[in-house]
Amino acid sequence: MIMAGPSRKIWGFELAVVVVGLLAIAQQSMQLGSNHPMHGIIQRINSNGPYIGLVLVSDNNEQALLDSNAFTQAEDQISSVELAGRKFKIGTIKGNGVIYVKTGESSVNAAQTVQILLASFDIKGIVHVGSAGAVNDSLSIGDVVVPKKVAFTGIWKWLKDGAKGGQLVFSDYNYPEGDNSLGSISFQPTTLYATGKNKTTIFWLPLNSAWFDTASQLENVELQQCISTKKCLPRAPVIAKGLSSSTADIYVQNAAIREFIYTHLKASTVDEETAAVTLVALSNGVENIIVFRGISNTAGGSTAYKSYSYLGSVNAVNVAVEFIGAVGTSKASIAAY
Ligand SMILES: *[C@@H]1O[C@H](CO)[C@@H](O)[C@H](O)[C@H]1NC(C)=O
Ligand SMILES: *[C@@H]1O[C@H](CO)[C@@H](O)[C@H](O)[C@H]1NC(C)=O
Repeated sequence: MIMAGPSRKIWGFELAVVVVGLLAIAQQSMQLGSNHPMHGIIQRINSNGPYIGLVLVSDNNEQALLDSNAFTQAEDQISSVELAGRKFKIGTIKGNGVIYVKTGESSVNAAQTVQILLASFDIKGIVHVGSAGAVNDSLSIGDVVVPKKVAFTGIWKWLKDGAKGGQLVFSDYNYPEGDNSLGSISFQPTTLYATGKNKTTIFWLPLNSAWFDTASQLENVELQQCISTKKCLPRAPVIAKGLSSSTADIYVQNAAIREFIYTHLKASTVDEETAAVTLVALSNGVENIIVFRGISNTAGGSTAYKSYSYLGSVNAVNVAVEFIGAVGTSKASIAAY
């Protein structure tokens, strides 16, 4: 017993050193290297964090955010930083610290932008806003989809000549009939790499965080139905929660593939970034992530109301702004990151 005291103390001291060492590594990994020219600026920005990372895709999404007047750019601190050609804007939405950035189109651009956001800034969760094409006939332009999962459907195994064992069999779409030398393709899962975990292969990436529950409770969000006093959509836009989304580096405007994605994969939307944003968030251990995709077209379906596509951005931004207000006052804002 007498010996146990001192030896324990030594062990405790060593342990403390190890823990301090780990904390220092964790601290560094959240910021740019100390020799990076932006290091000091980003440290100053982070001293006012943590922030909600608002990840937009397009100029239209940004225009809708600016039109909403919900974002107040920081005045008393640095208000914008450019890294790898992406502008990170610092400010507040409904009193909550927000850093917003545009990814540009495609999964590679989305993944890179989110990785920079998470590696550089003190981020407590990601709110992703973009537009989407509907492949589910129940959805209309202007609706906002809050998916509960998303698949990356752009990784294909193109099967041997003539093989029909894949999911998408091209000859099923021959008209009037006959064979098709494009054969068939089968959809492949994504590889997810994450700190402290073995790599896993996964097709449906989960979006069922505590933030999804917070978003599910949003009520009375104002969604815009009209683009002028006389031009209105036939039905008021709705928020569709809990659907499945799909992402590929493909812009879909084809009725046959639209129907295939809905019928076989049971996905309701197509876009080019959601899976990439989600994958990078999961890879970095970010547990708080929510997606708001505004329907801007019908991906090969009806072309009626095409001129209303901007309402997809407007309504997705409106829901995101209400969500940021709600999450700022809820327990879910205390991040696990
Ligand atoms: C990773 O996989 C190896 C081999 O299957 C296993 O022994 C190990 O426990 C796994 N590690 C984690 C963190 O799951
Ligand atoms: C299509 O959208 C409707 C309306 O949101 C929804 O009720 C339905 O479950 C969706 N279909 C699928 C396969 O998810």
